[in-house]
Amino acid sequence: MNIVITGATKGIGRAIAEKFAQPNTTLFVCARNYKDLKDLKADLEQQGAKVYIKKTDVSKRKQVLAFAEFIGKYTKKIEVLINNAGVFQQSTLTEESEGVLEQMINTNLYSAYHLTRALLPLIHANQKGHIFNMCSIASEKAFPNASAYSISKFALLGFSKVLREELKNKNIKVTALMPGATWSNAWAGVELPEERIMQAADIAKVVWSAYQLGDSAVVEEIVIRPQLGDL
Ligand SMILES: NC(=O)c1ccc[n+]([C@@H]2O[C@H](COP(=O)([O-])OP(=O)(O)OC[C@H]3O[C@@H](n4cnc5c(N)ncnc54)[C@H](OP(=O)(O)O)[C@@H]3O)[C@@H](O)[C@H]2O)c1
Repeated sequence: MNIVITGATKGIGRAIAEKFAQPNTTLFVCARNYKDLKDLKADLEQQGAKVYIKKTDVSKRKQVLAFAEFIGKYTKKIEVLINNAGVFQQSTLTEESEGVLEQMINTNLYSAYHLTRALLPLIHANQKGHIFNMCSIASEKAFPNASAYSISKFALLGFSKVLREELKNKNIKVTALMPGATWSNAWAGVELPEERIMQAADIAKVVWSAYQLGDSAVVEEIVIRPQLGDL
């Protein structure tokens, strides 16, 4: 099975990569830090998977397309695409600096839009596929201190819904993931009891089980929160 994951070196993306990495799996992964990618490749190959890495800034359309071209050199078929890479920044609509929204939209929305369009021919060629888009609880609920982030994640959910409708009859599943607070770099330095925030491994388990369903069923949306609710 061939799988593509953006932003796979840390946090949720890494947990998903670890879950899917098996002897019969080839992973194509990207992030901006090349050393992290090399370390990830070494770790996942120990699990028996074949791993191809490419340094990519997904907020840049040209680099997204170069990543897709890179993948196309090694395979003509992709089964799973996980649009995971994303950035979070605290900001308010009234006070955020110029360009914050553009940066969030480029990284959290256009990345998924351009990569999905570029890889769809390879997913079609596989005659069966599953696309996961890493949205957020901020895709359906506005958080006052996450204005630009929230706007970008609402848009990503819109993208996911449109994709679902378009691919319904093509044997390609589309799942929008909407996690709440999950331990990752984004929470570095935050002093909270461990159980207050979810583990990335639990998000990976949910992705894996949605992927495991039979051909006639698709999980369209997954909302997953800390047991104690939002922060
Ligand atoms: N953690 C949460 O509480 C939470 C909740 C809901 C949704 N999410 C979403 O889940 C996804 C993953 O978040 P996370 O918390 O796991 O983040 P994380 O730990 O900061 O990891 C982000 C990953 O994406 C990569 N990345 C970031 N910007 C990139 C760019 N411009 N181009 C390419 N790769 C990039 C990072 O590597 P480099 O820095 O090397 O590029 C890293 O591998 C995001 O879409 C986020 O919005 C997170």
